[in-house]
Amino acid sequence: MSARVIAIDGPAASGKSTVARRVASALGWVYVDSGALYRAVAWKALKDGINTEDAEAVGRLADVLNPEFEMRDGAVIFRVDGREPGMELRTDRVNASVSRVAAMPTVRERVSSWLRSLTRFGNLVMEGRDIGTAVFPNAERKFYLDASPEVRARRRHAEILAQDTKASERQVGESLRKRDLVDSTRVAAPLRVAPDAVVIDTTDLTIDDVVEKVLAMAGVKEQGGSCKNGKG
Ligand code: CDP
Repeated sequence: MSARVIAIDGPAASGKSTVARRVASALGWVYVDSGALYRAVAWKALKDGINTEDAEAVGRLADVLNPEFEMRDGAVIFRVDGREPGMELRTDRVNASVSRVAAMPTVRERVSSWLRSLTRFGNLVMEGRDIGTAVFPNAERKFYLDASPEVRARRRHAEILAQDTKASERQVGESLRKRDLVDSTRVAAPLRVAPDAVVIDTTDLTIDDVVEKVLAMAGVKEQGGSCKNGKG
C-alpha cells in the first residue's frame, strides 16, 4: 500500500511547522520540513564559496549533494557531509539567499525527488510552499496556512529573539516580505493555493485552534505519537 500524505503549505511564519509537527504527532505520521532541504542547498553553496546567483553552479552542487535521511522523534532529519546542519540553516545569510536558490528549476527537481523518496518512512505530514501543488499533487488532504504580514513578522521576531539576535521586528518583516515575493513570483512551482486546498487564516487563531481545525478536516483517525519541538 502506498504512503499517505497531508500537505501543509503557506508563507513563512504562518504557523506551518508547529501545526504540521503537532498534526503528525497526533496521527502517528512522520513530519517533514521541506524548506530545510532548500536551506541546506543554500547553506552548502555559501559554505563552499559558490555564487548563489549562479544557477548552473548551484545546480551542479544540488546534483552531487546527497543528504542522508533518517527518522528521529517522529520527524525525518538529514545529514550533509556526515553532520546535521541544525541552526546553521537559519542564519541571515541563508535567509537572504534561500529563495533565490529555491527558484532554480534544477534545485527544485532535485529537492522534490528527495521529498518524494521520503514516503519510504511511512505516512507523511509535509510542510512547504509547493507540496500540494507540485511535490504531492495527489496528497489526500491539502491545507494552506496564511496570516497577516504583521502577525507573521511578530511571530518570527519572537522566535528568533530567543536566539540572541538584534534584528528588529521591522527588519524581520522585511526579510519575510522579500522571500514571499521571490517565492510567489518564481516560474518553477511558485507559492500558490492548490485548487483543492483548505485555506486557514491563522492571524487570530492559536496553534491549538489551527491544529484542531486541521485534524477535524483531515478525516484521518488519530493514533497518538511523540513528536517534539517546533521551529515556527
Ligand atoms: O520556516 P520558513 O517558513 O521561514 O521557511 P522554510 O520553510 O524553511 O523555507 C525556506 C525557503 O525555502 C522558502 O522561503 C522558499 O524559498 C523555499 N521553499 C520552497 O521553495 N519550497 C518548499 N516546499 C519549501 C521551501
